Amino acid sequence: MLNIAAFVSGRGSNLKSVHEKVSKEKIRLCAVVSDCKECLAVNFASQNNIPVFFISLKEKDGFIGYTELGRILKELSIDLILLAGFLKKIPDEFVDGFENKIINIHPALLPSFGGKGMYGMNVHEAVFKSAAKVSGATVHFVDKIYDNGKIIAQRVVNIAEAKNAEEIAVRVLKVEHELLPYVVDKFADGKIKIENNSVIIID
Ligand code: GRF
Repeated sequence: MLNIAAFVSGRGSNLKSVHEKVSKEKIRLCAVVSDCKECLAVNFASQNNIPVFFISLKEKDGFIGYTELGRILKELSIDLILLAGFLKKIPDEFVDGFENKIINIHPALLPSFGGKGMYGMNVHEAVFKSAAKVSGATVHFVDKIYDNGKIIAQRVVNIAEAKNAEEIAVRVLKVEHELLPYVVDKFADGKIKIENNSVIIID
């Protein structure tokens, strides 16, 4: 059984896709961590009885800090942290405490269209402006630099005919909802290995 914590900031559709598509016999969603008190992802967690923790760089009413969060997640024996639409940068010390246990889903084909400020529609608008013919989704390990960690898996979508950034966003989100559950399922099966400099997914 793989114990998972999902970090969210908003809509929560990727959280939902993991919850719905990965077998309950393989994973346990032990915690949802949010930087906003009211959002669809938090509603989803509450409706599904997943404990929610509110996180902030500085502890304030109702929000805990990263040191406390790290302690809680270790206590819950979390094996994998999913950044599923989490918009804040994770502090370096926290990343150190969960080496190769934090993964992120990004709505473009990294290493293009990533980095600071590249989130949400900013990404799809940049892709549209570039006139790229393909975009897609990337799941990667999280290190101390935005969207920089080793790439685990990617899915490509054809956007040659897309008329605007919104259309690209819809097409990419669809593959995100396949890719993240696929990767989580592979983690649960122990089929993701880091060897030399690459990430290997065993079929
Ligand atoms: C997704 O596009 C994800 O790739 C990005 O943020 C968005 C979150 O969407 N990191 P949702 O909250 O999962 O619906």
